[in-house]
Amino acid sequence: MVLELKPILMSEEEIRALLTSIDEASIREARKTSLTSLEETILTRGEPGGAAVYDLKGRRIIDMTSQAWTLNVGYSHPDVVYAAALQASLLNHVRYGYPTIPRLKLMLKIREIYGYERVALNTQGGGWAIEVAMKLAMVNKPGADTFLVAWRSFHGNSLALTAASHPLPGLIRFRPFGEERFVRYPYPYCYRCPFKMSYPDCGLTCLEFLEKTIKYSTRGVNSIAGLIIEPIQGPGGVIPAPRDYLKGVLELGEKYGFYIVFDEAQTANGRVGAWSVAHLHGLKPDMMTLTKGLGGGFPIGATLAKAGIKGLSYPEEHTTFGGNPVPYAAALVNLYVIEKLNLVERARVMGDYALKRLNDMKSRFDLIGDVRGCGLYLGLDLVKNKETKEPATDEAEEVVKLAFEKGALYALDMPDIIGDEVSMRNVIKIRPPLVIKKEELDETLNILEEALVEVSEEYGYKYSKT
Ligand SMILES: Cc1ncc(COP(=O)(O)O)c(C=O)c1O
Repeated sequence: MVLELKPILMSEEEIRALLTSIDEASIREARKTSLTSLEETILTRGEPGGAAVYDLKGRRIIDMTSQAWTLNVGYSHPDVVYAAALQASLLNHVRYGYPTIPRLKLMLKIREIYGYERVALNTQGGGWAIEVAMKLAMVNKPGADTFLVAWRSFHGNSLALTAASHPLPGLIRFRPFGEERFVRYPYPYCYRCPFKMSYPDCGLTCLEFLEKTIKYSTRGVNSIAGLIIEPIQGPGGVIPAPRDYLKGVLELGEKYGFYIVFDEAQTANGRVGAWSVAHLHGLKPDMMTLTKGLGGGFPIGATLAKAGIKGLSYPEEHTTFGGNPVPYAAALVNLYVIEKLNLVERARVMGDYALKRLNDMKSRFDLIGDVRGCGLYLGLDLVKNKETKEPATDEAEEVVKLAFEKGALYALDMPDIIGDEVSMRNVIKIRPPLVIKKEELDETLNILEEALVEVSEEYGYKYSKT
């Protein structure tokens, strides 16, 4: 079957012009119309299967964010785009309950790669995948409706999840729904240990505290349906939890009878140099949620569960677009592309290389307090003082701004909210598409270093050149 796409009412030129050009007046008008916030830069096209993107002015930018850590196979990978276009030309929408070939095959492919017996797919993304996990936990533990979520966690921005995402209640102008459903526990943030201890000498005091939280700080263990955890916190600032902590969490779930959900929204699909952090550590939580890199740029989410977990009924889960076959076709081919390009291994090798360069920078810049992460999932924690570890917030903003002017797109972690004070945002995230070329990685790291030099001089931090 050959893909032959031709419009019938409009000409190809008309459609192309509609999608690829816009005048200044329309931009101004649309910005005024928008009820949601919009970035200044207008991106127009990516390099197919690559890490670079162009803006409306034709400027080339190397993307160290993969657009919210999503484009693991690069911008508009030709095979993924072909799959989506072919699927759309065959059947572009079906009502939720109808199985389609891509949806069926995608479930089996995910089962094969991630080793889970049960899979639920959605076209809404990571938040929906978490909500499905929460519904599964509540269905499978009747009567339980409370969830444990970590300090600095992020799990989604729906009204059901706002309270589960650490900084959001402090940033929004309305009250989240269901705050009483979430109990927060300290994440094992070893660089800034909540107990001021050092790993491994601490003996995982944080895990003991979690157990006490389970026993004493809720309406009793029977009310706890699940614990949700990012095994490496992403929006919180690239914070890896030690393996023995994660293993301990699984044991607590077993001991007290509730479900453990790994939110691998950001960390799966090869990003960390393994298919997931669970793979990396040889652990299997009761459930795992995926999104972002799973769709190769198309909207998708997946909830994976162990055998024996009862599934959801139609009224418990259906949505209008939840059966749409286009993202499923794209995601299916995307997984094959990850395999064919050996991107899991590539992320590991390129990540090790980047980590070495970043650690070298750390030894030369007073501004860099910590370098964390694995694979192409790295973070640079900027501090005013290496001893006190006070976050260098303005400096981090400035580095990212300068780097962008020089052609590299970086992003920061989410803010920390204490009372009315918004702080932190001092971790620069390094998460390019896994297909990034070595020269491009070097170029963006050189740009980062140049920006660090300029900011160090501006603010008076010591540094030395190689
Ligand atoms: C760790 C994590 N979990 C869940 C989500 C929510 O995903 P979505 O925005 O697709 O609902 C995100 C989104 O950034 C995330 O980073």
